[in-house]
Amino acid sequence: MMGTVVVLGSINADLVVQSPRLPLPGETLLGGPFVTYSGGKGANQAVAAARMGADVRMVGCVGGDPFGVELIAGLVDAGVDVGSMQRAEGSSGVAIITVDGRGENTIVVAPGANAHVRADGLSWAGVAIVLAQLEVPIDVVRDAFEQARAHGVTTVLNAAPATDLDPSLLALVDVLIVNQHELSVLATPGPAKIVLTLGGDGLVVDGAPIAAHQVSVLDTTGAGDACCGALVAALAGGASLYEAARLGNAAGAVACTVRGARLDGAARTHVEALLGG
Ligand code: RIB
Repeated sequence: MMGTVVVLGSINADLVVQSPRLPLPGETLLGGPFVTYSGGKGANQAVAAARMGADVRMVGCVGGDPFGVELIAGLVDAGVDVGSMQRAEGSSGVAIITVDGRGENTIVVAPGANAHVRADGLSWAGVAIVLAQLEVPIDVVRDAFEQARAHGVTTVLNAAPATDLDPSLLALVDVLIVNQHELSVLATPGPAKIVLTLGGDGLVVDGAPIAAHQVSVLDTTGAGDACCGALVAALAGGASLYEAARLGNAAGAVACTVRGARLDGAARTHVEALLGG
């Protein structure tokens, strides 16, 4: 039976402007349309796992602003359990994003309510995996992973955005998902199995390469999140890490073909088509 995936992480309103190219420091560019999407690495990963068929509970925090209401509704629409979502005074997390004509982006996040999320009082019954990233306080990630370890729950850390991490936190991680830059800022990656994502070049899982899928790229925002979410969905269903990474690799490719940072309701069909199933 498939165990529940708990995703602890950020949830943001993504304020996105398309631009012919990414701006240089001090430069003003005239861009294209402005669009608001639901985002945040944690919530994107929760939605990706749910789109792949997992039973997903999100632990995050929204503000008391209208974004908070929309962000919760977006999770519910995607089938994510919001019973552990929290609310804080003030603004929700917001990400200012520029996407260029090749689908590359720049992102600056104002954490807002994400800084107030807590991991105390979580229920671990039926949970197979907890997945976290680093847009929420590191001490909260540590708290959740210590609880997870005490309950025999697998821990997966996507160490994004890039920062060095204390070895005592890395010792709590079973699977570490990083890109090359994120790996380079870690003094030591710790004992975890490593999934190294290589953008348009696929990924390497525990030393074994998986080739990229060739897709028509519209927007790379959230591709890594789709990979993480799909990977843990497969792990929770009993797949090996290699098979889970194959699904993650395909989900990341599908994410590049749609605008915004989230997988949509058609994603599973597209992922299965890429994998030839
Ligand atoms: O990984 C993409 C995400 O990073 C965006 O949705 C943005 O909110 C930031 O968290």
